[in-house]
Amino acid sequence: MKAIEWLGNRVRILDQTRLPQEEVYLELSRYQDIASAIAELKIRGAPAIGVAGAYAVALGALEIKATAKTEFLRKLQAIIQTIASTRPTARNLFRALERMGRASESGKNVDQIKTALVNEAIAIHTGEAEATRRLSQLGAELLKDGFTILTHCNTGALATAGYGTAFGVIKKAWERGKKLRVFATETRPLLQGARITAWELNKAGIPFTLITDSMTGYFMSRGEVDCVIVGADRIALNGDTANKIGTYTLAVLAKEHNIPFYVAAPTTTIDPSLASGAEIPIEQRSSDEVTRIQGISIAPEGVDVANPAFDVTPHPYITAIITESGIIRQPFGEGIKEIFRNLSP
Ligand code: MRU
Repeated sequence: MKAIEWLGNRVRILDQTRLPQEEVYLELSRYQDIASAIAELKIRGAPAIGVAGAYAVALGALEIKATAKTEFLRKLQAIIQTIASTRPTARNLFRALERMGRASESGKNVDQIKTALVNEAIAIHTGEAEATRRLSQLGAELLKDGFTILTHCNTGALATAGYGTAFGVIKKAWERGKKLRVFATETRPLLQGARITAWELNKAGIPFTLITDSMTGYFMSRGEVDCVIVGADRIALNGDTANKIGTYTLAVLAKEHNIPFYVAAPTTTIDPSLASGAEIPIEQRSSDEVTRIQGISIAPEGVDVANPAFDVTPHPYITAIITESGIIRQPFGEGIKEIFRNLSP
């Protein structure tokens, strides 16, 4: 079950908009098609978006006819800009594009640069997969035998092009033999929880209960949730975390009920250039996603609609941030600075 696979001169992605009814794979060789697939959430989840963006740059580069280096690099910049404009919130996309930009500076001629870009995209993919595997191992220690865990959105293999973030932590603890139970929120408006997390939990054989987003307070108030664990799209230096809309609500509820609230993310999701979550750009998506469910209209035509795709959870609500470089606790700024001192750009 791979979100994205590099096939030498094209990528194969699993169209996540069709899940769980159909497992449809798309083979894409044009960077514009990958950009559309990202914008349309055919491939989604912060690390997976970064990987897809990197491959899109590599494929775009292979298509450039120019043999003069300056002209090639000018065209490459335009491609990078197109991919950067697909989705604004996930830090992983921009970090991957920055790495691709740097890789383009390494070759002496166009052929060398093309090879460097393909290799860099593959390295970004391998790095994200490895990071999610490692953070899942570290995070699994936090989940005790017998825990019931509440998770939001979809954070598994499909969201990460690797092992998973929040879902990876749950899966790793389960594989280690801990008896766990999961509450998976449906995650309105696009139902990543109901469609994809439920599908992945089923495949993993982990016992779970699917609930609507509005049921979370009910189950917390009855003492049925031992911890909440979510992924992230961008984490500011102070630990403020942007994640799927509804995450902030869960964090406030968790604090009210004294339930630990964990964020699991690779360091590629952290943006130490932003002092706080107030600076994180929040994607606003089409009103259709709210007024329709899987194409069926559920609201009167023409009503006013808001559709922010993410919200920001302020750092005081977060118990710990699980990364591949370690579990960071308050004050997050110190821990994040320490990790970034030891990371290559
Ligand atoms: O809009 P999506 O489906 O891309 O949002 C995904 C999430 O919010 C995930 O929780 C996040 O990317 C981190 S998990 C890989």
